[in-house]
Amino acid sequence: MAMKCSRSVSLILLLFVSNWYYCANAANKDGLGASFIFGDSLVDAGNNNYLSTLSKANIPPNGIDFKASGGNPTGRYTNGRTIGDIVGEELGIPNYAVPYLAPNASGKSVLSGVNYASGGGGILNATGRIFVNRIGMDVQIDYFNVTRKQIDKLLGPTKAKDYMMRKSIFSVTVGANDFLNNYLLPVLSIGARVSQTPDAFVDDMINHFRNQLTRLYQLDARKFVIGNVGPIGCIPYQKTINQLKQDQCVDLPNKLAVQYNGRLKDLLAELKDNLPGSTFVYANVYDLVMELITNYGKYGFTTASRACCGNGGQFAGIIPCGPTSSMCSDRSAHVFWDPYHPSEAANLILAKKLIDGDTRYISPMNLRQLRDL
Ligand SMILES: *[C@@H]1O[C@H](CO)[C@@H](O)[C@H](O)[C@H]1NC(C)=O
Ligand SMILES: *[C@@H]1O[C@H](CO)[C@@H](O)[C@H](O)[C@H]1NC(C)=O
Ligand SMILES: *[C@@H]1O[C@H](CO)[C@@H](O)[C@H](O)[C@H]1NC(C)=O
Repeated sequence: MAMKCSRSVSLILLLFVSNWYYCANAANKDGLGASFIFGDSLVDAGNNNYLSTLSKANIPPNGIDFKASGGNPTGRYTNGRTIGDIVGEELGIPNYAVPYLAPNASGKSVLSGVNYASGGGGILNATGRIFVNRIGMDVQIDYFNVTRKQIDKLLGPTKAKDYMMRKSIFSVTVGANDFLNNYLLPVLSIGARVSQTPDAFVDDMINHFRNQLTRLYQLDARKFVIGNVGPIGCIPYQKTINQLKQDQCVDLPNKLAVQYNGRLKDLLAELKDNLPGSTFVYANVYDLVMELITNYGKYGFTTASRACCGNGGQFAGIIPCGPTSSMCSDRSAHVFWDPYHPSEAANLILAKKLIDGDTRYISPMNLRQLRDL
């Protein structure tokens, strides 16, 4: 068991210093080993760079505030770090999880974790077809199965199993594209709305997700963090194409997200009961982002409706961020970096709440507690 460092109170400086040293050592000895990241463009760290796809972020000014690349684009769909990057840093992982498709996702680097996320990807295989290529969850888990065998080779099967079960966190941020780039696409396109009610579609998502999370468990994942779907009716893209006012959100996408999120919560409770030794942490991204959007001023933002980088309509929400886009002057004053994705400034606030926040946003425990479990 890891020490619970955060609760210890030291009254005098000497005690404080020695306590701090103790905790630093304990964290080194018993901290998190690896972060395995699954999902969509919210956490993609460069996999789509290696696909021929219409969903790409390795073009400037994406990455302009990403220190590790000197401000060059990396394939992240934001100006700086993603939530996955920030969580890894805060929990003490030495390197950002490498994108699975990058050439350096081999050898010992996989021991810090691997990132399988792909812009445009979803729970359902058909999701994101309009981008031509993207990696959906089924294939992301096939890829993890490959990594899993590499880790057996590196550590030996017994140590590898223990490393997966105790020292690794598996985060999954997915579902938004199943609505935005599948169900909600115009009826005449390839979306599923023509033939399915919202109930049936959400059912389909939950059934596939149950199978996907169970496969991860079979490959020895035990500590899971699952993000729910955010308020997708409030992103600049939706607000622009529906010509809404600054403080309005589109009803249907948000309703679908809430419906799915309710079912997701039940699914995680069910899986916890059925998969011995598992812990499923529910990240309430919906309420967290809604809080940020509603009270943006309180968090130091000047707008939660206008994209910093993008073009078109009243919220710069139609044309994705690229070299010819207009860009705002104060990137840390915008909740949204582009028509779809939060800025690094927003990601920092969101990540901190997931790491150390309370059960309103992260339950039944926060990520620091999950690491120390
Ligand atoms: C792996 O390569 C990516 C992209 O080329 C780079 O950003 C990252 O720093 C590298 N990571 C490691 C651990 O070598
Ligand atoms: C999803 O698509 C991939 C190819 O992109 C395929 O290998 C896989 O079998 C498909 N899964 C399902 C359940 O259809
Ligand atoms: C992992 O791959 C092996 C084949 O190498 C296969 O037998 C097994 O079913 C796969 N496991 C999962 C959970 O996909």
